[in-house]
Amino acid sequence: MPETTTEAIRVFAADVKEGLNTFPKRLPSKYFYDEKGDELFQKIMGLEEYYLTRSEYQIFQNQKEDILNAFMGDSGGFKLIELGAGDGTKTKVLLKYFLSQKANFIYSPIDISGNVLEQLGNDLRQNLPEIKVEAQQGDYFKALAALNKNHTCKEVVLFLGSNIGNFDNLEALGFLNQLSSNLSKGDMLFVGFDLMKDPDKILAAYNDSEGVTREFNMNLLKRINNELGGNFNIDKFRHVPTYDPITGETKSHLVSTEEQDVFIDEIGETFHFNAWEAIHTEVSQKYSYRMIREFAEKSGFELVQNFTDTEENYVNSLWQKL
Ligand code: AVI
Repeated sequence: MPETTTEAIRVFAADVKEGLNTFPKRLPSKYFYDEKGDELFQKIMGLEEYYLTRSEYQIFQNQKEDILNAFMGDSGGFKLIELGAGDGTKTKVLLKYFLSQKANFIYSPIDISGNVLEQLGNDLRQNLPEIKVEAQQGDYFKALAALNKNHTCKEVVLFLGSNIGNFDNLEALGFLNQLSSNLSKGDMLFVGFDLMKDPDKILAAYNDSEGVTREFNMNLLKRINNELGGNFNIDKFRHVPTYDPITGETKSHLVSTEEQDVFIDEIGETFHFNAWEAIHTEVSQKYSYRMIREFAEKSGFELVQNFTDTEENYVNSLWQKL
C-alpha cells in the first residue's frame, strides 16, 4: 500500500475513534467524499428538492453582467481564485460571459484533488480555449498563501455552493478571518450562503424522496466498513435530518434503531450504541441577511452587494477587504 494511503487511513481511523468516543457521537462530514460520495453529491445537486445548486446557477445566469461590473470595479483586471473548484459547472457560466466581454482575468481554481483539477483543466481547454488558467492543487490555505506571494493584481476569491455552511458558525468565522489575512486591501470575496426559509423546504432538501441523501449519509458507515474493517449493519441505522429555525442550523444524523455493538478492526475497539442513539454527521448552516453582514464585519470585510435568486432561497454575497 502506498505511504499516503496508509497515512490517510491512520488519520481516518483516529478521527472515527475520537468521534465515536465523544458524547454525543459525531463523525466529520469531510469523509462523505470518496469516489462514491462524489458521485452521490453530483446526483444530489441535480435533485428537484435540492434547490441550492439551481438557485446559485440562476443568480449567475441572470446577473452575470452586474457580477462582472462589481468584480471589475475600477481595476484593470483581476485574478479569480476558486476554493474547492470541483467540476466548475456553475462557474463556467461566469467564465464564459467574462470571456465574451473580453474581461482581463486569470482563473485560478484550487482543489485538494489533483484528479478533479486535471478534469477541469481538460474541460476548459476544450470548451473555453482562450481562458488563462493557473490551477493550484492543495489545501485552501497553503494554496492561498502561495498565491499571495506573487500578488500583482486584484484578487477575487470565490467560495460557492454554500460550502461555508458545512462549518459551524465559530469555524466559519475562523475560516473567514484566515482568508481575510491572506488578502490585501481592495481584494474581494464572493461567498454563497443558503438562506433561512420554510423549514419543510429545507428538510426536503436533506431528505429527498429518492433517498439519495440518505445513501450519501450512509456512505460514511460503508467507508468505515470497507476501509477500517468496521461491521456496521447499515439497515440498523436511519438517516435523520433536523432544522432549527431559530439558529438556522441544519444537521444530519445517523440514528441507531436498536441497542448494538459495532467493532472496528483498524481501531481495535468496540463501540456501543443505545437504542435511538444518534451520530451527528454534518451541519449545513442556513443564514439570515443579518448573520451574513455580521460575518463580513467580523472578518475585516465590507459587504458590497448581495445577489439573490428570484425566490430568495440563496445569496451570493460580495465583500471587499478593508
Ligand atoms: C457540500 N455542501 C454544501 C452540501 C450541503 O448542502 O451541506 C452537502 C450536502 N449534504 C447533504 N446534501 C448535500
